[in-house]
Amino acid sequence: MKFRSAFQHDISNRKSIRSARVGSQPGLPERIIAACDAKNPADKVLREHLKAERDILPVDARAVSQTVFNYFRWRGWLDLESPLNQQIHKARELAANFAADPHSFSDASLVERVAPNWLQEEMEITPAWARAIQSEPKLWLRAKPGQGRELCEKLGAAKLEKTLLPDAIHYKGEEDLFQRAEFHSGEFEIQDIASQAVGWLCAPQPGETWWDTCAGEGGKTLHLSALMQNKGLIWASDRAEWRLKTLKRRAARAQVFNFRSALWDGGAKLPTKTKFDGILVDAPCSGVGTWQRNPHARWTTTSQDVAELAAIQKQLLAHAAPSVKPGGKLVFAVCTLTRSETMEVVADFSAKFAAEFEPMDLPAIPFDHQPATAAKFIWPQDLGGNGMFIAGWRRKK
Ligand SMILES: C[S@@+](CC[C@H](N)C(=O)[O-])C[C@H]1O[C@@H](n2cnc3c(N)ncnc32)[C@H](O)[C@@H]1O
Repeated sequence: MKFRSAFQHDISNRKSIRSARVGSQPGLPERIIAACDAKNPADKVLREHLKAERDILPVDARAVSQTVFNYFRWRGWLDLESPLNQQIHKARELAANFAADPHSFSDASLVERVAPNWLQEEMEITPAWARAIQSEPKLWLRAKPGQGRELCEKLGAAKLEKTLLPDAIHYKGEEDLFQRAEFHSGEFEIQDIASQAVGWLCAPQPGETWWDTCAGEGGKTLHLSALMQNKGLIWASDRAEWRLKTLKRRAARAQVFNFRSALWDGGAKLPTKTKFDGILVDAPCSGVGTWQRNPHARWTTTSQDVAELAAIQKQLLAHAAPSVKPGGKLVFAVCTLTRSETMEVVADFSAKFAAEFEPMDLPAIPFDHQPATAAKFIWPQDLGGNGMFIAGWRRKK
């Protein structure tokens, strides 16, 4: 069983798009693709192989990444019995045809081939979703509150998407952003736009006390802190110590000081007795929402993963819930779209905790023209980012 971190995919895919010098590294894409399996995801295998190719030019590394991701994105259309180099060639052709005219592919073919069959039991596969996940992913940055315009001017090739979400920037350039002075001084984070939406929907207030229960490498902790203007306190916990170490490094760069980190394995023994104004459970999940950015995962994720992760999500919510103050918020988020990990988790929690919690309408945010609801799907075709599901409850007073 595995789960996906949207942050990792943003990082590893940042060079996977744009210009490609096809054929400049003969045999390398084949070796990489052959080394990918359920235990060795494409982003990790790519990173390792490209690191070993010491003299590879950035433009060639990008071409190799693009070839590998195209292969997995178009795998459903390929004859898997044919030689790998022919499959790679075919995938490249399909990607070029799709980029030239996404509607040259029929709805039926997209719906049938874009994902493994088991997914149909878990969600409605629509042509709009299929077309969205067959296109190249966008790279999203999050500026410090109110500083997006200034940052875009400094970076160039970047557009502030204020009408979708405040501070969200679509970066269209080629530069390695990790080398930029503005990155090292904490002026922006690389964060998918749907992940940014989660922070806005939590709507934490300066001075409040929050618990980010599955903080990982801190993508949402840093955003919560920015929204709280660095005032108040955030407990950031995770079961993986190495992730919390990365979180601390990122927090130092972003000049986030109002947090405390602690190990928590999701069990009944909590890291603190504190009662919180808000708790975010950004739970481990099957990551179906990241399949545009991470197409290899389509072919390694199973329905058994979905069932096991749904059970963990229910347990995390049940263990965290008693730490919400009366009147406080509980927010559940997953970068997946399966029924078992979204509405069924919500129904389970709402039924078990009906005496203490009531559904809470999530606040209105610019991109969303739907009426306020207590549970929301964000589709890749809505914002041009990952698919995400968010639900909220309020503890009764
Ligand atoms: C979706 S990721 C979190 C991403 C993070 N919030 C961010 O925005 O960057 C889920 C996290 O849950 C953690 N996790 C997995 N199982 C857990 C458990 N049983 N208890 C606590 N954390 C767990 C993982 O280590 C991972 O960091």
